[in-house]
Amino acid sequence: MENSIVQIKAEALESVAVAADIEQIKSLSVKYLGRKGLVTLFLRNISQLPVNERPEAGKQANITKKKLESAFEKAIADFEAKTKDDEFNAIDVSLPGRPSSAGTLHPITHITRRICSIFSRMGFDIAEGPEIETDYYNFEALNIPKNHPARDMQDTFYVSDNIVLRTHTSPIQVHIMEQNAPPIRIVAPGKVYRCDSDLTHTPMFNQVEGLLVDEHVSFGDLKGVLEAFVHEIFDEQISLRFRPSFFPFTEPSAEVDILCVMCRGKGCKVCSQTGWLEVLGCGMVHPAVFENAGYDTTRYSGFAFGMGVERLAMLKYGINDLRMFFESDYRFLRQF
Ligand code: PHE
Repeated sequence: MENSIVQIKAEALESVAVAADIEQIKSLSVKYLGRKGLVTLFLRNISQLPVNERPEAGKQANITKKKLESAFEKAIADFEAKTKDDEFNAIDVSLPGRPSSAGTLHPITHITRRICSIFSRMGFDIAEGPEIETDYYNFEALNIPKNHPARDMQDTFYVSDNIVLRTHTSPIQVHIMEQNAPPIRIVAPGKVYRCDSDLTHTPMFNQVEGLLVDEHVSFGDLKGVLEAFVHEIFDEQISLRFRPSFFPFTEPSAEVDILCVMCRGKGCKVCSQTGWLEVLGCGMVHPAVFENAGYDTTRYSGFAFGMGVERLAMLKYGINDLRMFFESDYRFLRQF
């Protein structure tokens, strides 16, 4: 009798080990532990055994019952875990791959590089300068006196009494002249900061500065260089207009308008019906600026110019909202 329960146990455990799925385990469970299962029947029949065999047979039967219960439970749990793994690991080789899209250059980067490359083909080097400047470089050395309106707290971000976020790229002129003797030919791109924010102004924007210093440099040279630049970046049909203007660091000074690239002079919304668009400021370097840099003003002359990059990019690419440059919308950026 004892033998038969040991045999039942061995058989049952063997069957569990080779079971193919949860259904088979469940039917094994019925076969051995169900109401008419082999172990159940064995327990029920113990009373018919000789008295001296009953305790041991009962003990073995209970051990077997417990053992099988936990064996079935574990086998089911194993099958469930395996199914989850299989689902997780399943690879559908017919699915299309997920493409990772390549980044693009920001339109501002794009046009800045274009501007610099046009000037570098005319022999200009590329220069850079710090975005955090001293009062001296941003104003004083550029002949902007202490009481000049451009220093007003409304326009300038002050870091401390004497330190500002540069309000234009012109301080780079001063750094370059301090470090180099003439002749000088540089363009300097960079971010500038003004405390100004509305539909057409942002607190940070980009400029490209230009500076050329040599003997016998004339306003005619300035006009020639800027005309060549405008024709290159837009086209030969775009004419230029120099309007007298004022900057403390140039004399004479001018603002340059180009023929409206949208309506070609007919008058439209972009040029406010004037037919012209203001694109940059320029002039002959003021002798006071040369003196601050230690240049001989009787020997050298030069010109400087500064242009707004966002404005040029809007005109070149037909972008009508300044905010587009700052939103990082991939659908916008990928067009460049
Ligand atoms: N720095 C001037 C501005 O920001 C532009 C400029 C540069 C004008 C160089 C003349 C010469 O408006």
